[in-house]
Amino acid sequence: MAADEDDSHYFVREIEKNDSCTLKVKQCYLGDVGCVVWDAAIVLAKYLETKQFYEPSSGVNAWAGRSVVELGAGTGVVGLMAATLGAEVTVTDLEDLQTLLKVNIQENKALVSGSITAKVLKWGEDVSDFLPPPHFILMADCIYYEQSIVPLVECLKLLSGPDTCIICCYEQRTEGVNPQVERQFFQLLQRHFSCEEIPEDKQDPEFSSPDIHILHIRRKV
Ligand SMILES: C[S@@+](CC[C@H](N)C(=O)[O-])C[C@H]1O[C@@H](n2cnc3c(N)ncnc32)[C@H](O)[C@@H]1O
Repeated sequence: MAADEDDSHYFVREIEKNDSCTLKVKQCYLGDVGCVVWDAAIVLAKYLETKQFYEPSSGVNAWAGRSVVELGAGTGVVGLMAATLGAEVTVTDLEDLQTLLKVNIQENKALVSGSITAKVLKWGEDVSDFLPPPHFILMADCIYYEQSIVPLVECLKLLSGPDTCIICCYEQRTEGVNPQVERQFFQLLQRHFSCEEIPEDKQDPEFSSPDIHILHIRRKV
């Protein structure tokens, strides 16, 4: 049996959507940070369902037919949510995460009304496979180690266009090097991009937290 078919490698996290369907996202018992669903990913996934983006009863759907690239997708839960709302999604991460991403796409394909594929994208490397710039770039819990700051900002510069909305969700951590990493990331980012923090009352009422921030980031003109 192939490793990706063997359920003893995985445990399942269930994320209920507002339409009562449930995303079933497999996480690995063993592996690096990308193998589990982080809280920022849940907060961002549920934010995508808020009524400013998605209110079918009023004909609002900011996701239908829109191109979305998720960076550092891990299990893929954020991109999966966008694909179930109608977006054309590419979930990206390092080579090591591709099996998990593909397993989770397969597991949830019945809920997808747009499309979703998994691809390798290492921050700072060539992005020509992902151009023209997508309408949205999504990233959850991607600001966490010093060596990634320059390549991650470079990736955002290469991938975004003047109309791209980057939605970044991160958990503010106070221990160790985390505050310094965050500070350095935002200092570098703000040379090229402007950031708007989304207040808690515009986030999902249940899945939000004072230490988890959502930002809309756009290229400076
Ligand atoms: C903390 S995890 C977050 C995973 C997922 N977004 C979530 O919130 O559940 C960070 C993710 O970034 C990915 N990552 C780290 N460095 C990367 C790089 N240089 N290029 C691409 N992805 C990277 C990791 O593989 C991992 O999946």
